[in-house]
Amino acid sequence: MRVHVALTPADASGLALDGWAAIAVDVLRATTTVVAACAAGCVRIIPVTDSGAARERAALFTAGEVLMAGERGGEPIPGFHLGNSPLEFTPERVRGRTILLTTTNGTAAMLGAGSAGAGAVAALTNVSAVARWALAQGRDLAVLCSGDDGSFSLEDAVCAGLLVSRYYATRIGDLRHASRWARRLARKGHSADVDACLRRDVTDMVPVVEADAIVPGPAASAPLGTEGPRQKASCAVIGAVRAPTPPAQFPEGSPRTAGPQPRDVLRLALPEGSPRTAGPQPHDVLRLAVPEGSPPTAGPQPRDVLRLAVRPGGRFGRGARPPSGDPSR
Ligand code: MLT
Repeated sequence: MRVHVALTPADASGLALDGWAAIAVDVLRATTTVVAACAAGCVRIIPVTDSGAARERAALFTAGEVLMAGERGGEPIPGFHLGNSPLEFTPERVRGRTILLTTTNGTAAMLGAGSAGAGAVAALTNVSAVARWALAQGRDLAVLCSGDDGSFSLEDAVCAGLLVSRYYATRIGDLRHASRWARRLARKGHSADVDACLRRDVTDMVPVVEADAIVPGPAASAPLGTEGPRQKASCAVIGAVRAPTPPAQFPEGSPRTAGPQPRDVLRLALPEGSPRTAGPQPHDVLRLAVPEGSPPTAGPQPRDVLRLAVRPGGRFGRGARPPSGDPSR
């Protein structure tokens, strides 16, 4: 199954969507408004290109049956019943009604989705449900972000990313067939590499860029979404000390780069009183990873978390440079 994410309207131009499932996204605000209107019990929403088209279509309905809604420049259109705020689309206003909607960017994406074999509307407010809908279609999938006057829009990209990640959540392995480059690698005899790459979250290692090199960085082991001192306190801390028996994060023999080397990387997350092990001990630890005075939280406290950033010879500092004469320079 193919998946195409159009981050701007230009990315979608020329796409022939017959037979595809297509999803329109305009988080701020048109698709969020459409989701709200449907949840509030409207009968249907008809996206139209402009206010003239809305008035023409409205004339075909009996009074009271239809509402004209939309915006230009973010403001309601004079003479329309509703603007483009999801908060306006309450059951009291829209239940049982047909809504003619025209907005600056969002309705174009909705009209695009309407040209596909199956179309739907996504916002952050319904992203998981839409991913389930997309899976049930069993079709190639196009996500059509509305963007911002032709440009990239972050909130639509975030929604598209969540949508696609939910779509693939339990089926990462499907990328073996869905990705064109995966297929080509397999044909060239590199299937084992494809398998090695298509594994999710098998390490906490975050390589970070320092000057002109990428070096092993601190592991971010706290669950996503838990921020602040507690998260910092629960992070394993990486330092740059040469030690006799460091737990290697990368195989020996990795090519040398400037800065700390893979074998220099140590994880220090031992609570006080843990049995001694070879290598650096808690009392070797020198730098606090959390600012003094951070508010207390349950669990490990900032003062429990320490960054090890000293090299033999007593040099301090994150990403301490190798001593002069070091062959890696
Ligand atoms: C749009 O279609 O451009 C919008 O939904 C703009 C807005 O009203 O926030």
